Amino acid sequence: PRTIIEPFRIKSVEPIRVTSRAERLRLLEAARLNVFRLDAEDVLLDFLTDSGTGAMSARQWAAMMQGDESYAGARSFHRFEAAVRDLTGYPHVIPTHQGRAAERILFSVATRPGDVVPSNTHFDTTRANLEYDGVEPVDLVIPEGLAPRNRHPFKGNIDLGRVERLLADRGDKVPFGMITLTNNSGGGQPVSLENLRAYRELLRRHGKPLVIDACRFAENAMFVKLREPGQGNRTVKEIAQETFSLADGCTMSAKKDGLANIGGFIALRDARWVEAARNLLILTEGFPTYGGLAGRDLEAIAVGLEEVLDEDYLRYRLRTAEYLGEKLLAAGVAIVEPTGGHAVYLDARDFLPHLPREQYPAWALVNALYLEGGIRGVEIGSVMFGKRLDDGTETFHALELVRLAFPRRVYTQSHFDYAAEVILEAKAKAAEVRGVRLVKQSRHLRHFTAELEWA
Ligand code: F0G
Repeated sequence: PRTIIEPFRIKSVEPIRVTSRAERLRLLEAARLNVFRLDAEDVLLDFLTDSGTGAMSARQWAAMMQGDESYAGARSFHRFEAAVRDLTGYPHVIPTHQGRAAERILFSVATRPGDVVPSNTHFDTTRANLEYDGVEPVDLVIPEGLAPRNRHPFKGNIDLGRVERLLADRGDKVPFGMITLTNNSGGGQPVSLENLRAYRELLRRHGKPLVIDACRFAENAMFVKLREPGQGNRTVKEIAQETFSLADGCTMSAKKDGLANIGGFIALRDARWVEAARNLLILTEGFPTYGGLAGRDLEAIAVGLEEVLDEDYLRYRLRTAEYLGEKLLAAGVAIVEPTGGHAVYLDARDFLPHLPREQYPAWALVNALYLEGGIRGVEIGSVMFGKRLDDGTETFHALELVRLAFPRRVYTQSHFDYAAEVILEAKAKAAEVRGVRLVKQSRHLRHFTAELEWA
């Protein structure tokens, strides 16, 4: 049989509610045309994010009952620490309540104002946390990574020539190099081991450590197994372990490939930043053996880090985005190709050619998908990344994308068949899709709270 099935059966279900189009129009208008302001109960398929939205396994729930909620030295911490050490090989493990807390703490102790940190693409929170510390984040993904229709197998790779130039010109300001696995802001695209090795070598010649933003390390390792010459016969776990062995530390959001609903960590190879990080952790997150998490959360992550390396799971996981992507491409819908690990990205300018960028085509497409079938995606375009300047004019983002991100182990193939139908129905009526205009916005991260009207 060719079908790659969901490699699990369902033991506990949660109903989702079908609404009528008229109801959705009323709900969306009440939410000021901003799907972030909708109640989740009014959404049928929620593709807003793959972060913290996954389903836990029976083994994880069972482990949660074993959670040791002691303030200090809990057994659950030791299980969590052992799981992170086994995966990464890093001896120093610092739990945090989620990924951005790990970033904030590491950057506070490892950077100084005026520093520069290269990466393939810094995720928003990584960028924002560096900037908050007066550090300049620099995105140096390969040019193929910025071309939506280029089918390079490792579009998350970092451009080594540009890293080399940065190190030559401003090396004294670079405290470490980073790399995001997979490259979320660039379409969930993977990084090859070959690229990672060369990046590490380059940094080492300049005496700089490498830190991985490891949120989706397992999806990345599966892409390596499937696409990188010579890697097909290794286990994903071996590939993941080699990945971490090439770096000096990582920040992690366990809400993605930790298969947990909350949690994160910093893990480090040498002791240099550890003491300062633990001191800051105590100040803002909690004692070093729980770091803002309950003992049961540490248990869920320990099991999740093991389960996520199951190759049947990962094959099904990568197939999900590919499956929806194939259906859309066959019907002439432009998407970021090839599909990445956790999401499908629709090209809204191609979908809605009649809308000028002043009417936010990607935002308009998010609204259209909700109205058409109760699907919630997220705009990655000019509402998210553009800015209103003091003189009232706007800056726009280079791409107008809609990200449909998939919670892990939550939706089945028929949900994705339904999603494809909704997208194609919206495409058939594309000329009727209305643009929007902003009527109220905040200064920072305006997309979360903005209020809009039909243009
Ligand atoms: N790094 C990457 C690559 C991420 O995708 C995220 C979160 C973080 C760091 C921060 O982790 O949310 O646990 O604090 N990404 C989510 C998303 C929010 O929807 O892509 P966090």
